[in-house]
Amino acid sequence: MNDKLNILLLGSGGRECALAWKLAQSPALNQLFIAPGNAGTAQYGTNVALKPLDFGQVTDFCQNNHIDMLIVGSEDPLVAGITDYMENTLPHLQVIGPSKAGAQLEGSKDFAKQFMQKYGIPTAAHLSVTAQNLDEGLHFLEQQQAPYVLKADGLAAGKGVLIISDLNEAKAELRAMLEGKFGNASATVVIEQFLKGIECSVFVITNGKNYQLLPVAKDYKRIGENDQGLNTGGMGAVSPVSFADEAFMEKVRMRIIEPTIQGLQQEGIPYCGFIFFGLMNVKGDPYVIEYNCRMGDPETEVVMPRLKSDLVALLHAAAGGTLGDATVEIDPRYAVTVMLVSGGYPQSYEKNKVITGLEQVAGSTVFHAGTKCDEQGNLLTSGGRVLAVTSYGNTKDEALAHSFESIKHISFDKMYYRRDIGFDLD
Ligand code: AMP
Ligand code: GLY
Repeated sequence: MNDKLNILLLGSGGRECALAWKLAQSPALNQLFIAPGNAGTAQYGTNVALKPLDFGQVTDFCQNNHIDMLIVGSEDPLVAGITDYMENTLPHLQVIGPSKAGAQLEGSKDFAKQFMQKYGIPTAAHLSVTAQNLDEGLHFLEQQQAPYVLKADGLAAGKGVLIISDLNEAKAELRAMLEGKFGNASATVVIEQFLKGIECSVFVITNGKNYQLLPVAKDYKRIGENDQGLNTGGMGAVSPVSFADEAFMEKVRMRIIEPTIQGLQQEGIPYCGFIFFGLMNVKGDPYVIEYNCRMGDPETEVVMPRLKSDLVALLHAAAGGTLGDATVEIDPRYAVTVMLVSGGYPQSYEKNKVITGLEQVAGSTVFHAGTKCDEQGNLLTSGGRVLAVTSYGNTKDEALAHSFESIKHISFDKMYYRRDIGFDLD
């Protein structure tokens, strides 16, 4: 790479903080901007008050600040077509994030299922239901074993998947979804066979032709210990994942990653960015639970710390067509992250609590997920998920012990976290 790059990263969560942390270490970076960012991303670049869904505003900023690369952190702008828009308005800008068509892998579960079926990618049996074939949907439910899996086709802020043990309740929920429980997102509902196994998150960087594998991670979505209680955006993550060994990953490459990339090519769908494969390991065989067109959160908070290679160079290679020649070096150590959340989350919770003690943390990296600074310079909570405390260790338990030691120094009113991240892994 000859010239250093100016980069704009869109987003404001823990994922973007971890990406910003990693990008800022690159010798290939000139200036980093994060929009809108949070109090943590401001340590690694300049926060700018842009709305990621206002493509005109993003274009103007890129033009006025000589941005070379735009990295789209979250799915909403991708599904809304930011990549196609930017490529039309600023053809020289490198955009990391798929085309609108590619983002459908996440934006429409029905599209993703049809795609997997067409390309022979292992996934749960399913039926897509609309108001037109409700009877068929009810019949399909009767043929399934409990529990029943109902998914809103479109984006529903992570809340569109229902897993229900009672058949009559599942039928009632199917009707409610089709009648608009998740707005237009559930005008189509995907009913799926329930897969029993253990999940993991696999990530690649791809240019739609070549790909490079990133570290595998496992996240913990439930609010309570032992995976009990309500779903959250993610309470912690671990990488590597003990069961994702060489034999398992070979299956993932051959059965899932490569057919997915070949499928995108055959469909003529441009895709330069991340693919996140949410997988279920069913007795040693991987099945796709979901695709996402972006990195995971909180997985990024352990994946980026384990990536030794230069992220800017990798993304530049992806955008420039030389990803096949790139190499990815991974830190062999474990990384874990423990999310500190606001009391009450994922239901109602209070914001604007003063956070103290970060300056005393020594053995961990604290990524900010929902924080802001007030005019006096106090650090305040501004979301449900507040801070992700990431540590390394030669074992998972050693890494966790470092995070718990760091957390002892950190406090805000009603702070809560899980003490059992990684409990189901060796
Ligand atoms: P998703 O929003 O697609 O990630 O689904 C949320 C969660 O529901 C997943 O992380 C899984 O734990 C669970 N899930 C989704 N689909 C299935 C399935 N077919 N079988 C079992 N669990 C599932
Ligand atoms: N950790 C799951 C996600 O980012 O969707």
